[in-house]
Amino acid sequence: MRAVLKVLVPLMLLLGAIAWGASVLVEHTARRWFDRDTRMRAELAVSGARDGLERALRKGERARVRRILGEVARDERVLGAAACDPEGALVASTSEYPEPFDCGRIRAHAAAGAAAPVTSAFEAPYGETRVHLTAVPLADEEGPLGFVALVHDMSWVATREEQTRGFLAVAFAIVALAAAVATTLAARFSWRGWSAELQRVLRATWLMPGPSAPPRTRREFQPLLSDVRALVSELASEQSEGRAGLWSPARLRDALARHLPGSEVIVVANREPYIHERRDGVLRVQHPASGLVTALEPVVQATGGTWIAHGSGAADREVVDRHARVRVPPDDPAYTLRRVWLTAAEEEGYYYGFSNEGLWPLCHVAHTRPTFRGGDFAAYRDANRKFADAVCEEANGPDPVVLVQDYHFALLPRMIRERLPRATIITFWHIPWPNSERFGICPWGPEILEGMLGSSILGFHVQAHCNNFLDSVDRYLEARLDRERQSVVLGGQETLIRAYPISIDWPTRWAADAPAAPLCRERVFADLGLAPDALLGVGIDRLDYTKGIEERLLAVERLLERFPQFRGRFTFAQLAAPSRTRIPRYQELNRNVEEVARRVNERFGEGDYRPIVLLREHHEPPTVFRYYRAADLCYVSSLHDGMNLVAKEFVAARDDEAGVLVLSRFTGASRELGEALLVNPYDLEEASSALAAALAMPREEQRERMRALRTFVSEFNVYRWAGRMLVDAGRLRKRDRVSGRITVPFRTVPGEAGGRR
Ligand code: F6P
Repeated sequence: MRAVLKVLVPLMLLLGAIAWGASVLVEHTARRWFDRDTRMRAELAVSGARDGLERALRKGERARVRRILGEVARDERVLGAAACDPEGALVASTSEYPEPFDCGRIRAHAAAGAAAPVTSAFEAPYGETRVHLTAVPLADEEGPLGFVALVHDMSWVATREEQTRGFLAVAFAIVALAAAVATTLAARFSWRGWSAELQRVLRATWLMPGPSAPPRTRREFQPLLSDVRALVSELASEQSEGRAGLWSPARLRDALARHLPGSEVIVVANREPYIHERRDGVLRVQHPASGLVTALEPVVQATGGTWIAHGSGAADREVVDRHARVRVPPDDPAYTLRRVWLTAAEEEGYYYGFSNEGLWPLCHVAHTRPTFRGGDFAAYRDANRKFADAVCEEANGPDPVVLVQDYHFALLPRMIRERLPRATIITFWHIPWPNSERFGICPWGPEILEGMLGSSILGFHVQAHCNNFLDSVDRYLEARLDRERQSVVLGGQETLIRAYPISIDWPTRWAADAPAAPLCRERVFADLGLAPDALLGVGIDRLDYTKGIEERLLAVERLLERFPQFRGRFTFAQLAAPSRTRIPRYQELNRNVEEVARRVNERFGEGDYRPIVLLREHHEPPTVFRYYRAADLCYVSSLHDGMNLVAKEFVAARDDEAGVLVLSRFTGASRELGEALLVNPYDLEEASSALAAALAMPREEQRERMRALRTFVSEFNVYRWAGRMLVDAGRLRKRDRVSGRITVPFRTVPGEAGGRR
């Protein structure tokens, strides 16, 4: 009904406007006609009496002139007639001739309207009506004799116009009614057609989930259907798991054993989960500040296998065997960490150069210009090859499950595919994928895409990034796109493109180990020197320009400007782990953040009170979780972020169901965590209002929001993220095995069967 009204109301308004325009047009045209008609009538009336009039006038027979004028004015619409001499003096007139229109006035008007002695006419008001005046010139052989003035009553014209307007209104009302009825009927019938078609296709989809050929359908249904198919396949896989409820390490192990039996798991990620350092002669293990590690480590602990990473710690070589392997976690080994050694030049070109000065700014809308250097890309290619060598060395069989992580390894999937054609390669891109126009900036775009399409499955956090990737392939590669299946077929090999929103482990081990919230608050308040009734906000990030740290501190400044009640009471602690510090843009960011913090502290600080506490160093997870638990709010202000796991960690940390999450709309997490206060971090008014609302939020509302957030994150945890990818990979592998057993080809739909994976 609402949709019908949406069409009908503008339609009625349009018809009303047309009706009004038409009535104005008709009125104008009718007036011109009436004018012409009246003038003709006047000329006709005078011409019938012209001879008699001219003779009488020439002889000065006023009584005869008056009589003839009486004849001329017999028409019921003529109010009166007058004969005037050439100088504009009255010769004679009928008795009802209206006084205001004396001969002089008419002559003046006629002279203004025409240079030659021709009939002239004009309209003038007369009491409550209007009259039409016509001056018809008279002359004989001897010269001009003056003119006859005829005054026509025009009140009938107004009546006609009224009638015409009425008629038009009725006609348009009928048309509008007919249009409304036709629109409603058309909407009804097409809606019925649509629902029937949708039901048909949904039934077909429901009956054959999985990789079989989808039913043929209209183009406009395809996006909806691919969502439905994804949902159906998800539900089917949940059912085939034989259990509902939370994903856990045990369930993930189980899914791996059921769907990919006997498979070995090899993870490739640039960042290693444990970094060995030596400080003051003591060997220490560091947990890097990395969303990827946060998410992936619990998964690999559950599945076992091998994690191949760049050995970046100063003491990394001290703890590995001769194959550069070490069992981790150090206190309870569950899998193997295989380190790859890179030279300083390789690290410079591959990691700092192409990965972090090229691809990182390319993929994030954060206004830092990407830098592409040929030398960096060559180093990137070489480093990818080095990791491909490591994968082949670690693989014990021809078909391992290889989980390739992130933008450091765009070329790796194809390199692995060429050497291990039967491997199942699941690539996950942890950062956003830009739109195809922006992606075109990268000089090696097609090679990057081809490299990634060596994967069996390519995952992004959100559907929008999958769509951007498909658009990029469409624009820069000769490949077959199947938007319905969300896949790309290149060289006979199919890659599924899927959204798998990443998450964290649940229950989160760091939260489980942390002291209770009041104790954390006590400890953090003591460390920061805060009064017991102070209010605390936290931000936890790598010092990266995509995280919007400057904007965050500016929002704190705006909060203190607009809401003086928080001055002296609210402190914002920013834990910022130095990151990629060799890159000039990161050095600049570091300076800017320091400068903003100094300025805000100068403006609003007093005595011991500093509104911003900047802690620029690496913090181990127990400290981070202490801050999460101590805070009244956590502000995640990323300018662009694939997911952002700080938001989810904050939620996981708050088992006291207190604290408020203020979250940037430009994070993948904002699509899932709707109970947070969502803000545009560029909009300092909105952001500072949200901070104020968070600080003033009643406990009951905090609890309600936090409870909903915790339910979501517990359910959509990282085991589910990994489980869904593994189940999808298992299904693909099964399909390929089945089609590999069939020796006689039975169908030839191009690209349908795909290649081996
Ligand atoms: O979020 C993108 C990402 O590369 C993650 O994958 C990783 O956790 C994080 O940035 C840290 O970056 P780096 O490994 O360069 O310190």
